[in-house]
Amino acid sequence: MLCRGGRNPGGDDDMKALVLAGGSGTRLRPITHTSAKQLVPVANKPVLFYGLEAIARAGVTDVGIVVGETAAEIEAAVGDGSAFGLSVTYIPQPAPLGLAHAVLVARDFLGDDDFVMYLGDNFVVGGITGLVEQFRADRPAAQILLTKVSDPRAFGVAELDAGGRVIALEEKPEYPKSDLALVGVYLFTAAVHEAVRNIRPSARGELEITHAIQWLIDHRHDVRSTTISGYWKDTGSVTDMLEVNRSVLESAERAVEGTVDAASEIIGRVRIDPGATVTGSRIVGPAVVGAGTVIRNSYVGPFTSIAGDVHVEDSEIEYSIVLGGSRVIGVRRVEASLIGRNVEVTPAPRNPAAHRLVLGDHSKVQIA
Ligand code: DAU
Repeated sequence: MLCRGGRNPGGDDDMKALVLAGGSGTRLRPITHTSAKQLVPVANKPVLFYGLEAIARAGVTDVGIVVGETAAEIEAAVGDGSAFGLSVTYIPQPAPLGLAHAVLVARDFLGDDDFVMYLGDNFVVGGITGLVEQFRADRPAAQILLTKVSDPRAFGVAELDAGGRVIALEEKPEYPKSDLALVGVYLFTAAVHEAVRNIRPSARGELEITHAIQWLIDHRHDVRSTTISGYWKDTGSVTDMLEVNRSVLESAERAVEGTVDAASEIIGRVRIDPGATVTGSRIVGPAVVGAGTVIRNSYVGPFTSIAGDVHVEDSEIEYSIVLGGSRVIGVRRVEASLIGRNVEVTPAPRNPAAHRLVLGDHSKVQIA
């Protein structure tokens, strides 16, 4: 057993992580500023970073990141992984042929080691440390995570017997047999390699990890499940995005590192990054304000994430997300809104009294 740096004194450091950040960049999300959906920000931080941090906290440092079309963006954001205390190897996947296909292309990296597979667009509140510890102790062939969702048709769905054992899994079923969705965090021993080699592409043309796990069940391998709450993935729902932003901001800590003038009031857990400027404004936490952002003569209310290089002036905004480079000027008041990159929201001139809109694809506007 190898022990590195004392990160995980009781664990087996031969365990690896496989993070999936490939896939095609064309699937549309509410935020299309970047084609890599793993970089959608939650409380001003890409969703993928939370996963990498959770992996590091669980004591796993050897991480393979599967990348596809958006490799350049992912590599620019994550680098060599040292910022996370990780050692990252990039594994190109020639085409997004499925989650089990990603395991196939990662075979050289994984060797025969146990690994945690983490889908880069998934967010698990509370991390994965307990789960990884449990797996290290029991080492079933596969350990899956389940969570109750309102519409299981968008997920892999598990069917359990009366004793809570997984008996069957289905990928995106039209008529789900339960409301238990597969969360995108899986733990495997090397037994999964035989499974991924023995399955055929699904109706959507992908090698499904769900089918590989079903193969393990059918071949009498030990497959265990844990049900969790506190799970999110970007399904394109703005309500869900605002909600995950809120839940992450709940644990934000106060850190006022930008410049705040004497006429401003910063109340509660507010993070103002270095290089941000706040003048004549009131910010009530929890909220975050990114570097280079200017807030002038405005009110920013609870559960708001304002990214870097944003300009908010003579405005009120609450329970919202504003991404980089946008301008919100003279608007009272913005609530429960998701504002993308380089967007401009300003009042129309008095004459003619009309709304003037330039809206991108999939935009939604509600005018008060
Ligand atoms: O998020 C949980 C769900 O993830 C599970 O409930 C499903 O059972 C599982 O199949 C998967 O479903 P999705 O269809 O939502 O997966 P998606 O195509 O969004 O890919 C998940 C992540 O893996 C995403 O970060 C992109 C990456 N990916 C995907 C494919 C198909 C790859 O890196 N390579 C691929 O070939």
